[in-house]
Amino acid sequence: MTPKILLAITGGISAYKSAILARLLIKNGHQVRVMMTPSACEFITPLTFQALTGNEVHTELLDAQAERGMGHIELAKWADLVVIAPASANTIGKLANGLADNLVTAVILATTAPVMLAPAMNQAMWGNTIVQDNLAKLARFGFTIIAPDSGEQACGDVGAGRLPEPETLCEQISQFLTVQNTAQTLAGKMVVITAGATLEPIDPVRYLSNHSTGKMGYALAKACVGAGAKVIIIAGEKVSLPTPLGAEKCTIGTADEMLKVCLQVCEKADIFIATAAVADFKVANIATQKLKKTADNDGLTLHLVKNPDVLATISTTYPHLLTVGFAAETQDIENYAKGKLIAKNLDMIAVNDVSDKTIGFGSDDNAMTVFFAEKYGLDKVNLAKMSKDKIAERLVGCVANLLK
Ligand code: CTP
Repeated sequence: MTPKILLAITGGISAYKSAILARLLIKNGHQVRVMMTPSACEFITPLTFQALTGNEVHTELLDAQAERGMGHIELAKWADLVVIAPASANTIGKLANGLADNLVTAVILATTAPVMLAPAMNQAMWGNTIVQDNLAKLARFGFTIIAPDSGEQACGDVGAGRLPEPETLCEQISQFLTVQNTAQTLAGKMVVITAGATLEPIDPVRYLSNHSTGKMGYALAKACVGAGAKVIIIAGEKVSLPTPLGAEKCTIGTADEMLKVCLQVCEKADIFIATAAVADFKVANIATQKLKKTADNDGLTLHLVKNPDVLATISTTYPHLLTVGFAAETQDIENYAKGKLIAKNLDMIAVNDVSDKTIGFGSDDNAMTVFFAEKYGLDKVNLAKMSKDKIAERLVGCVANLLK
């Protein structure tokens, strides 16, 4: 499942940037909860974060009511990653010395999740040896420090200590999670991925096909290799992308050929990911000679018959496989996606809206919604528009989660 981020806000004028950060993290499909120190509440209200995250904001350590809800130990256990932004010199000092005098410091002491912190303070405070010693100590304890920006500060000083822009913070958090996520989560697994378009001959020189380029499948192959899996790509012959380092590629032409190869390689596989745009129909009688125009004939009628469904056949033939489908829809997206999830007996399906021309076929970006088989009891995951590489990493995170 997508990582759960606990965003800790400490006192500082840059706390307003954390509101945008919370919004960006949610837009990227993360689950976000917020905890605040008392001084953070002086700069920005908990209500702002409650409205942005849809979750109650945690501010109190010694509050019976709050502890009856999600207590500080539960909060510490809930988080997959804690991000302190902004991290004040005061909180940095407390953490470096093991203090737990408010909710934020107590939760951070109690959590086993990795902690990233983005210091933000006046440039003179930032330059102070005590602050730098405390940060060095936290880095030794395994905290990840996000370097502050330099520039004009709210107090009028110029120098280092500014909280980076929310977009930059969000990017750094995503990169951190990618490394964590793809840290060999598919080690020892064999993944078969179909990619690109099939090509259905009409005669020796013509064919029926579609616009799929294979980019999504190749991005997934790269992410799976990164996660430690052995990867075989079964690609349509029009795919012209370089095979990702560490993956094997097998080229096919028609849907029938794709199915034949998949049936062979999937026997030993653990995961099957079907990104290929398989032609739904093929020509019933492929002409052995080139079709010719004739003077008395204004049209040509092709008799098409259904192609095999590669994904559905693989999921039925090899029920041990974790199967992932993709769907491109132009309307009623959720219903169609869920229908395919059930009809094709899948564990997971990622669906995109191909009516949006800025994503999907041929584009470098994509936006998707992921649905899971009912047995997992998981909610859908929204992946906002981002590069296909990033989407692929997130999807691999979803797959790895289903294997747990
Ligand atoms: N798929 C497949 N073999 C087919 C058709 C589809 O393996 N003959 C796979 C695709 O790779 C994708 C999923 O099934 O992962 C959904 O494909 P899609 O074309 O959207 O669904 P269809 O079942 O063909 O339904 P429709 O075209 O009616 O939307």
